[in-house]
Amino acid sequence: MPDRVVLAYSGGLDTSVAIPYLAEKMHAEVIAVALDLGQGGEDMEDIRERALDCGAAESVVVDAREEFAAEFCVPALRANALYMDRYPLVSSLSRPLIVKHLVDAARRLGGTIVAHGCTGKGNDQVRFEAGLAALAPELRVVAPARDFAWTRDKAIEYAEARGLPIETSKKNPFSIDQNLWGRAIETGFLEDIWNGPSEDVYAYTADPATPREPDEVVITFDEGVPVAVDGRPLTPYQVVDELNRRAGAQGVGRIDLVEDRLVGIKSREVYEAPGAMALIAAHMELENVTVERDLARHKRGVDQRWAELVYDGLWFSPLRRALDAFIAEAQRRVSGDIRMTLHGGRAVVTGRRSGDSLYDHSLATYDTGDAFDQSQAKGFVELFSLPAKIAAARDAKKD
Ligand code: ARG
Repeated sequence: MPDRVVLAYSGGLDTSVAIPYLAEKMHAEVIAVALDLGQGGEDMEDIRERALDCGAAESVVVDAREEFAAEFCVPALRANALYMDRYPLVSSLSRPLIVKHLVDAARRLGGTIVAHGCTGKGNDQVRFEAGLAALAPELRVVAPARDFAWTRDKAIEYAEARGLPIETSKKNPFSIDQNLWGRAIETGFLEDIWNGPSEDVYAYTADPATPREPDEVVITFDEGVPVAVDGRPLTPYQVVDELNRRAGAQGVGRIDLVEDRLVGIKSREVYEAPGAMALIAAHMELENVTVERDLARHKRGVDQRWAELVYDGLWFSPLRRALDAFIAEAQRRVSGDIRMTLHGGRAVVTGRRSGDSLYDHSLATYDTGDAFDQSQAKGFVELFSLPAKIAAARDAKKD
């Protein structure tokens, strides 16, 4: 019996070429596994057949859209997850789910080796292999681009020499990764970090500078999970999909970032994540209304750690599970509605409404009916400033 290699398959040039190459090099049968993560574009059935046409022994397509939305995007939203305060973890979120389905396929179809198309310079190799180490340490890993020094030119040459049924002429200068949570674009002229992104870089968002009517949307959350848009109950996938379209049409969620990769390189990446960025803005504001101050302060640190951990590929780790337990507790009252205006590349909150609100009008108001006893403030301020006052007096004597 030949070995069976389970390949994370995208349908693109590099992973298509990897099918016959791995079969030959490893004397193995290749099982291609492709996931629908809401990336849009090509029909998944075409992708499934292409793998077979390239010589795969088996080709599996998984509709993972709802799973990705509910199990990965929603936890990221509840954590307001933004790496370096900017990047909503688009690719970082998809890798652990791809790993899970690779392992499922390997166990079901007798795979002993897993292959992925990552290079040795990026984060994604870490995410794949850290995930595999946690879920299926018995599987061997091979990464042709990294381990056998495959390049794009070599792949094109190989595909043409063998007449593989893939488009090699279309010269896309960019490396793109996209899913429901957003789209990442790098390489080409973007590698000069002084070059501004041209409009053709973007696919999920329209030019925010184009004049158009604003769009007003109401998002309903239940314990930090988005459950309805404009009063219509939707699944997590449907919420993100609708907001990708509506916020995308207003140019919301474009990000241009020089980013610190786990492997130590600074790289420039352009992102567009209209749904994710609108949802995070809405969720953060609902937390402002419903989460008690100390819990909110502590959660901001947890949120940052969560984003770093997931960026670094440690989804399947005890710390991520423990942080999620904290976040779940913190989300117990994060229920209610947020109204936002989507316009000119921005998603701006204009209203909040919650049965769990901590906003007390009678305490906050400057009008009559004020329930706040201002006389209590005087003593509080005095004691609160006492340590700094004493230290300042000491320093005045010494200097
Ligand atoms: N820099 C991002 C990350 O590490 C995206 C990686 C994939 N990007 C790409 N354009 N292929 O999560």
